[in-house]
Amino acid sequence: MTDILRAGVMGWPVSHSLSPRLHGHWLARYKIDGSYEALAVEPAGLVEALSRLAEKGFQGVNLTVPHKEAALALADTVDDTARRIGAVNTIVVGKDGELAGSNTDAFGFIENLRDHVGGQVAAGWSGRPVTVLGAGGAARAVCTALLDCGVADIRLVNRTAERAVSLAEQLPGLGQCTTIVPWRDRAEALDGARLLVNTTILGMTGQEPLELDLADLPIDAAVNDIVYAPLETALLAQARQRGNQVVDGLGMLLHQARPGFRGWFGVDPTVDDELRQAVLAGM
Ligand code: ATR
Repeated sequence: MTDILRAGVMGWPVSHSLSPRLHGHWLARYKIDGSYEALAVEPAGLVEALSRLAEKGFQGVNLTVPHKEAALALADTVDDTARRIGAVNTIVVGKDGELAGSNTDAFGFIENLRDHVGGQVAAGWSGRPVTVLGAGGAARAVCTALLDCGVADIRLVNRTAERAVSLAEQLPGLGQCTTIVPWRDRAEALDGARLLVNTTILGMTGQEPLELDLADLPIDAAVNDIVYAPLETALLAQARQRGNQVVDGLGMLLHQARPGFRGWFGVDPTVDDELRQAVLAGM
C-alpha cells in the first residue's frame, strides 16, 4: 500500500486515452500527492483488476472501452444514471473497499453545453425539438442528459433504425418524447430544432464524413459535435459559417472527468482553457 492517492483508467487498449494527461494536469495544479495511471486491462482480467483495487491502494478508476458495460455488473453499487445509461465509467472505492459505480458522461455533456449556452439548457430548450444523430452508447448518455434537463421533444436519427427504436424503448422516459427519423431524412429533422447533437463517429479523423445539409436548421440553434478529433469537425465548421453557435466535443471529455477527480482526490476541479490546451497537446 502506498501513501499517495492512486487512480487510473482501465481500458484495452488504453494507451490512446487522454485521461492520464487530463487528471495529471489537475493533480499538478492542485498540488495533490497522487497519481493517475493508464491501466491496460484485458476483458478477461477485469474482474480481478477491479477486485484488487483496494488492496493496491487505489481510490478508484475510470473505465473506458471495452469495460464500461461489464463494470455495471461488477460494481457493488451503481447509481441511477449509470443504470439508465447501461454503463459505468467511474468507480470510487469506499472506506470498506466497496466499489461505487457511476456514469459521468451525461453530466459531462450537459456541463459542456452549459459552459456555452448557459441557463437555457435547464429551461428544457423552451419546448423546441432537439435532434440527436446516432443511437449508440454516446447517444444513450446524451439522451439521458437531455431528459434530465427537461427536454420533451427529441428527434432520434440513426442509420440503423432498429437501434434507435430499441434505445427509445429501453431508456426510461425517452419513448414518450421521441420521434424516430430515418437516416435519409436527417436534413428535414433539423427543421425548428433548438439543438443538434452528433453522437455518431462520422466526421472523426479516419472515419467517413458526416453528410448533412443544414439549410433547414434555424440560425438560433446550437450545434454540438461530441467528436473531438478533429476539434472543429466539418459539421461545426459548416454550422459556424452559417452563424449557428457551435460547441465542440472536448468539453464533454473534460467535464465528465470532474466527479471522478472529486471522488478520489477530494477537490472539485475546474475546466478552463489551460486544461483544454494541456489535453490538446496530447492529441
Ligand atoms: P458509441 O458507443 O461511441 O456511441 P457505437 O455504439 O458504435 O459507438 O455507435 C456509433 C454510432 O455511429 C451509431 O449510431 C452508428 O450507427 P448504426 O447504429 O447504424 O451503426 C453510427 N455510425 C457509424 N458509422 C456510420 C455510417 N457510416 N453512417 C451513419 N452512421 C454511422
